[in-house]
Amino acid sequence: MKAIQAVRGVRDILPPETAKWRRMEAVAREVFELAGYREIRLPLFERTELFARGIGETTDIVEKEMYTFHDRSGESVTLRPEATASLLRAYIEHGLHVQPKPVRLYTMGPMFRYERPQAGRYRQFHQANVEAVGEVHPALDAEVIGMLLEFFRALGLADRVTLHVNSIGDGQCRPAFRRGLLEYLTQHLSSLCEECRARVERNPLRVLDCKNPGCQPTIERAPSILDALCAACASHFDQVQAALGALGISYRITPRMVRGLDYYVRTTFEMVAGELGAQNAVAGGGRYDGLIAALGGPPDPGIGFAIGMERVSLLLQDVADPAAPLALLIPLGDAALHRLLALARSVRRQGLAVDVAYGARRLRSELDRANRLAIPYAVIVGDLELAKGHAQLREMAEGSQRELPLDEVPGELSRLAERRRRG
Ligand code: HAM
Repeated sequence: MKAIQAVRGVRDILPPETAKWRRMEAVAREVFELAGYREIRLPLFERTELFARGIGETTDIVEKEMYTFHDRSGESVTLRPEATASLLRAYIEHGLHVQPKPVRLYTMGPMFRYERPQAGRYRQFHQANVEAVGEVHPALDAEVIGMLLEFFRALGLADRVTLHVNSIGDGQCRPAFRRGLLEYLTQHLSSLCEECRARVERNPLRVLDCKNPGCQPTIERAPSILDALCAACASHFDQVQAALGALGISYRITPRMVRGLDYYVRTTFEMVAGELGAQNAVAGGGRYDGLIAALGGPPDPGIGFAIGMERVSLLLQDVADPAAPLALLIPLGDAALHRLLALARSVRRQGLAVDVAYGARRLRSELDRANRLAIPYAVIVGDLELAKGHAQLREMAEGSQRELPLDEVPGELSRLAERRRRG
């Protein structure tokens, strides 16, 4: 029978890669919590309307990439393509706006987008997502960006990523910019790709996002949003830059970076790892003042970002798998098996990982198994040892073996674990 394979664009994360994931998650939690963020856990699916309203009807995500289906009651629901809309839905639903502001929250988990799979782009992928809600001060923007940088620094990746920042204005200044851009793009329709031509009328800002090389000359000569900012947006952006300067953070201003979601105003930013090729954005975020009101909540501003964990994982070296057992307990016979099952339990209660063989295979093949699993010690008990209340402790690398009382095995394994930890 033909074996069933995973759906295209989703992937399994196998050990030892899972060790790397646990490290990324632990670092994210530590960095976020040191800055006062607390964890929120959100559902994986929501009413479709939330994303349509939140992310924007004319974005690629909503138009083409959502996993939407009707559940058995006929309601349209969607697997979340991102976490911001869900998090703000929860913020509104649970009245979190009454808490002291900014309300700082983070969440981690899988997101779903029906994109064309390629290296670094999947249909199920994972984000570590942060939101700071209810504060408009530009210093918060710099602090949030600084925290994102801390995440990469803590993983030893600071030198391999570049920070791009931009301001995309707000409801005051963007409409005029949009009109100017529309006029310019309409004049240059023939030099744009088919997809951009379709986008011009519906969402001209999205054209600036196009990665098609043929469109680049036209995009490069397009009007710059930074020339169109109103006084309030320009001042906000100046203050963000001043605070970034005070933190000693280096960045590039990239006026054509508009991001793929419609809710952004003013500050937007992206972290890029050039070595990753086409899918090189490892994190992105920005301000979304007005979004909470648009979702039916209070007029609270907010800012946040999401880190693409698969792409960060591509940058990281393999991490030693901490779950590899310290010892394999090998019984030679049923009586020894029962003694070793109990011994395994008491060693595990001491916090040490051990594996038990069941005595069905020959000693030689169990020792082979320990070697293949890179288990450093074997504890062997046969009838002879059992009668004396003893065990053989074997150091796999040297092949040396010594006898000791069974009762002393937990203590001896602890000592050996400690010696290995110290190197
Ligand atoms: P985004 O730019 O759509 O922003 O996604 C953030 C990051 O998720 C990207 O930079 C990328 O690393 C990763 N990512 C996105 N799509 C995929 C994919 N198909 N496969 C692998 N990785 C992917 C947001 O999602 C916003 N919600 C961020 C935000 C939070 N803005 C404010 N608060």
